[in-house]
Amino acid sequence: MAYKNLIVDKKEGIGFIKINRPKVLNALNSETIKEITKVVCELENDKKIKVAILTGEGKAFIAGADISSMANMTPLEAKEFAKLGHIMLNKIERSRIPFIAAVNGFALGGGCEILQACDIAIAAKSAKLGQPEINLGIHPGFGGTQRLPRLVGIMKAKELLLTGRNIDGDEAFNIGLVNMVVEDDQLMETAEDIAGKIAGKSSVQIQFIKELVNTGLDIDLNSANSLEISYFSSGFSTYDQKEGMKAFLEKRKPIFKGK
Ligand code: HXC
Repeated sequence: MAYKNLIVDKKEGIGFIKINRPKVLNALNSETIKEITKVVCELENDKKIKVAILTGEGKAFIAGADISSMANMTPLEAKEFAKLGHIMLNKIERSRIPFIAAVNGFALGGGCEILQACDIAIAAKSAKLGQPEINLGIHPGFGGTQRLPRLVGIMKAKELLLTGRNIDGDEAFNIGLVNMVVEDDQLMETAEDIAGKIAGKSSVQIQFIKELVNTGLDIDLNSANSLEISYFSSGFSTYDQKEGMKAFLEKRKPIFKGK
C-alpha cells in the first residue's frame, strides 16, 4: 500500500515505518495519524512480520501533533483529533507485533506519547524528548498524562508535564522513559539488532507476552497471575513449545513456526 506521509519497508520479518514529513519535523496531522494506524493494521495482517521499528526522517522522530492544524480547532474537532491519536496508540500498544521506537531526534508532545505506547524505545544521544504542551496552553491529549506517570513515576511525570522542559537521551534513559541510549550513528543498527532477536522467537509467545503485560497492568495482581497461568498452559498446545524444548534437549537452535 502507498502512503503519503510514511516510508514503509519490510525485511526479514521486520516492518520499518519512517514518518516522512521532515519539513515540519514529522508533526502529526490527522492524515499522518490515520496512515500510521493503517500501516499498523497492514503489518499485523502480514504473517511474515514479527516486529516493527518506528522512526522519523531527518532531524526529528516526531515533534508533536501538528500545531498549525490544531490552532483553530473547535472543542469538538479537538476531541475528534485526540480520539484519533488514542486509536493509533491503542492499535500500536495492543498489536500482536512489538514496536521499537528508534528515537532519532525531537520526540515532543504527541511524538513522546507515541514512544510511550511502543514496547521498546531506544534514544539517540542527541534526541530531545518531552511534553511541551503546557507551553502552548494545552496538556497532552494522546495519553501522555496517563502513560508517562506509569512509565517514569508520578512525580517525575508531573515535573515534565508541568514544566514542559525537554530532556536528552541520557536523562530519558535515567528516568526509564527509554530502554537505552546509543550514539546517533548506532541507532538503527541497535534497533535492527533487537528487532532481529525478537523476529527469531515464537510469534505466539511474542503476542502472549504483550497481552499479559498490557492486560495485567490494568487489573489486580491475583487476576493477572491467573491470566498468566491460563496463557502458560495454552502455550503447551503449540508447535513452538514442543519445538523450543526439543531443540534445547537436542542442543540445537529452535525453528519456531508461530503455531
Ligand atoms: C507543526 C511544526 C511542529 C509542530 C516544528 N514544526 N514542530 N509544525 N507542528 N509540532 C515546524 C516549524 O514551524 C518549522 O516550520 C519547521 O517545522 C522547523 O521547525 P523549527 O522550529 O524551525 O526548528 P528548530 O528551531 O530546530 O526547533 C525545533 C523544535 C520546535 C524545538 C522541535 O520546532 C518546536 O518547539 N516545535 C513544537 C514542539 C511542540 O510544542 N510539540 C507539541 C505539540 S502539541 P517553518 O515553516 O517555519 O519552516 C502536541 C499535542 C498532542 O503534540 C495531543 C493532541 C491531542
